[in-house]
Amino acid sequence: MQQQAPMRNSPSKNGSGGHSRSFTETIWFPYVKSGLGISPNRSYALFSLLILLIVGAFISTRLLLDTTVLIEKEAVTTTATTKTKIQTISPKYPPPATVITQNTPEFTLHCSGNETTGTCPINNYPTTVSFGEDDSKHPPTATCPDYFRWIHEDLRPWAKTGITREALESAKKTANFRLAIVGGKVYVEKFQDAFQTRDVFTIWGFLQLLRKYPGKIPDLELMFDCVDWPVVKAANFAGVDAPPPPPLFRYCGNEETLDIVFPDWSFWGWSEVNIKPWESLLKDLREGNQRNNWIDREPYAYWKGNPLVAETRQDLMKCNVSEEHEWNARLYAQDWIRESKEGYKQSDLASQCHHRYKIYIEGSAWSVSEKYILACDSVTLLVKPHYYDFFTRGLLPAHHYWPVREHDKCRSIKFAVHWGNSHSQKAKDIGKTASEFIQQELKMDYVYDYMYHLLNEYSKLLRFKPEIPQNAKEICSETMACPRSGNERKFMTESLVKHPAETGPCAMPPPYDPASFYAVVKRKQSTTMRIQQWEMKYWSKQNQTGS
Ligand SMILES: *[C@@H]1O[C@H](CO)[C@@H](O)[C@H](O)[C@H]1NC(C)=O
Ligand SMILES: *[C@@H]1O[C@H](CO)[C@@H](O)[C@H](O)[C@H]1NC(C)=O
Ligand SMILES: *[C@@H]1O[C@H](CO)[C@@H](O)[C@H](O)[C@H]1NC(C)=O
Repeated sequence: MQQQAPMRNSPSKNGSGGHSRSFTETIWFPYVKSGLGISPNRSYALFSLLILLIVGAFISTRLLLDTTVLIEKEAVTTTATTKTKIQTISPKYPPPATVITQNTPEFTLHCSGNETTGTCPINNYPTTVSFGEDDSKHPPTATCPDYFRWIHEDLRPWAKTGITREALESAKKTANFRLAIVGGKVYVEKFQDAFQTRDVFTIWGFLQLLRKYPGKIPDLELMFDCVDWPVVKAANFAGVDAPPPPPLFRYCGNEETLDIVFPDWSFWGWSEVNIKPWESLLKDLREGNQRNNWIDREPYAYWKGNPLVAETRQDLMKCNVSEEHEWNARLYAQDWIRESKEGYKQSDLASQCHHRYKIYIEGSAWSVSEKYILACDSVTLLVKPHYYDFFTRGLLPAHHYWPVREHDKCRSIKFAVHWGNSHSQKAKDIGKTASEFIQQELKMDYVYDYMYHLLNEYSKLLRFKPEIPQNAKEICSETMACPRSGNERKFMTESLVKHPAETGPCAMPPPYDPASFYAVVKRKQSTTMRIQQWEMKYWSKQNQTGS
């Protein structure tokens, strides 16, 4: 099992203290929540989905009478509508000029050699920050990217009741740690070891958020579970007499669960597999793209990863090129053992953007690889996912990615590549839109802003006064980073926030009203369905001509 460990975002069976969950159970859960026993908070979403399925099916069959024309039409309307969307909905990115304030003092780590005792040094890092709203140097704060709207949805289960101490404690059962912020300081009570350094870099992320926005994160207590799979089943908290669901933070969720999603550790670095902090990786990826034009890339779909972590990945391996089949896919198994010996040269993410198409497929749950794949300028062929993380709910089919069917992957991939190679401008645009989304809307500033807003909204729901937990230790950047060496020290030094933000966070967009919520779901649904219809047309034609 140990060999498989690195790329599965999951605990190794022996390393997690009996904390691993049956992954067949979670992975093969039916996608759509069963209509019965759903929490009232989410039932309107379900209802809308049903309507959309019906409406969507109707629309797409109506539109599909002539596919050859439709492909062109669809692509045109997709781009046209998205163009207007960009102007109306998408955030205005703050001008980059804001960064250049000459005399910002920088605060680096002060390691004295005494940190192993676990006491935080007294330092002169600012404890408050003001953004000077009337200061003309600072531009008006832009609206956050659209995916921030899901913060409201994730917290909706507690919107009416609030979060009681009892509810919080009920989340302890599976949590790896409790994190408290009291008076701008971070206290961590650890319950059980997490896989690798997930918990370490996650807590590091909280510390950096507080350095970015000192004095702006209210007191709170939260429970964090670092295991892959969401566990708070909505159905268990649906009835009138049901207790409120435990508020549990983790990296991903799915349609059946109410776990609160939070940015994963890899934004600050994944030291075990040598994936560096997101900010510098993002820059490498951008530079890699500039060296490598889309049209000059290999006209196939590429995937590299660990196929052993999920059945669906093993199924994908059947689509590899062979003597008998050309499914337009080039698939490789990642050998982490060998690569760790060779210094990860082969797994350098920025040099993996040499194909026009890249496949994203979930592992044991969501995979941190999604952002790296989307950042490539290649068309992401997204095998129907079952999990979401904090930003993926902002992605739209035929705009940011091309949907691939789960149960007929090879044909789906072959068609996708065929379509892209014969509509190269449109395909290239999809690749570009995705990497722009990643570069702009998922830059580190917005990752922090997401955390800022989520934690602020969360704290408003608390119906008790947050306290320093009895068994908790105060944690600060020094006690975390100073005793470490190797990649861990390197990545922490690199991702350290060196001074408070000079502008406030982006402005939180309002919650979805039912109509706009339906509109988003409907758009995803009908576009995906239409693409599936083209695919079927293509294949019935291929079948007839016998090729
Ligand atoms: C380490 O701690 C001891 C005892 O608190 C103190 O006397 C000493 O000066 C400290 N050393 C450094 C390098 O800060
Ligand atoms: C897929 O095929 C290529 C070319 O034959 C081969 O190099 C590669 O190892 C194959 N991938 C897997 C996972 O078997
Ligand atoms: C084409 O043929 C394959 C293999 O016989 C079959 O599985 C598939 O459903 C057919 N597709 C269409 C659209 O007829």
